[in-house]
Amino acid sequence: MDFIELCSARFSARKYTDEVVSDDDLSYIMQCVRLAPSAVNRQPWKFVVVKSAEGRKKVQAAYQRDWFYTAPMYIVAYKNHAEEWVRKYDNKPHGDVDLSIAIEHLTLAATERGLGTCWVCAFDPEVLAAEIPQPEGWEAVAIIPLGHIAEDCPKTEKNRKSLSDIIETI
Ligand SMILES: Cc1cc2nc3c(=O)[nH]c(=O)nc-3n(C[C@H](O)[C@H](O)[C@H](O)COP(=O)(O)O)c2cc1C
Repeated sequence: MDFIELCSARFSARKYTDEVVSDDDLSYIMQCVRLAPSAVNRQPWKFVVVKSAEGRKKVQAAYQRDWFYTAPMYIVAYKNHAEEWVRKYDNKPHGDVDLSIAIEHLTLAATERGLGTCWVCAFDPEVLAAEIPQPEGWEAVAIIPLGHIAEDCPKTEKNRKSLSDIIETI
């Protein structure tokens, strides 16, 4: 797959099979995550890999959707407020930008391996923090279900603004 094929192939997968993700695939995906760039190379992140039945239940409590329960595993992406770079001119923190790049590496690497993912940010952060407590300063940015895509997984046409709508040339 060239890059545009990879970008086109990635979609928000909302139904998975029970098949577990192999250690080889998970290791490959996480190596791609590790190589993501970040502001001032701070790498203000960590990724909690949730595979156990007990762990999956904890994550599911924070985002109660039937399709979400089908995922055999989740990766919860956290940012560290103490480590993220902050731009001095306007105090804009860049941890969310850093995490977004790393998470998109994750989703594209999974796509390359034939696996499905979906960004999930609409979870309840208080429930997640109660279920999976973290040290001070760590904030969950996204939960990424990861698994083999079910044959009948819903998939819609890409609906995107046109290039002329999103590019300004000056
Ligand atoms: C930051 C972010 C948060 C998202 N949160 C959710 C979510 O909580 N639940 C969900 O079902 N999809 C979520 N999505 C998926 C988007 O709805 C999806 O990416 C968008 O509709 C485009 O579809 P595609 O990913 O299939 O190309 C999220 C995507 C992004 C980038």
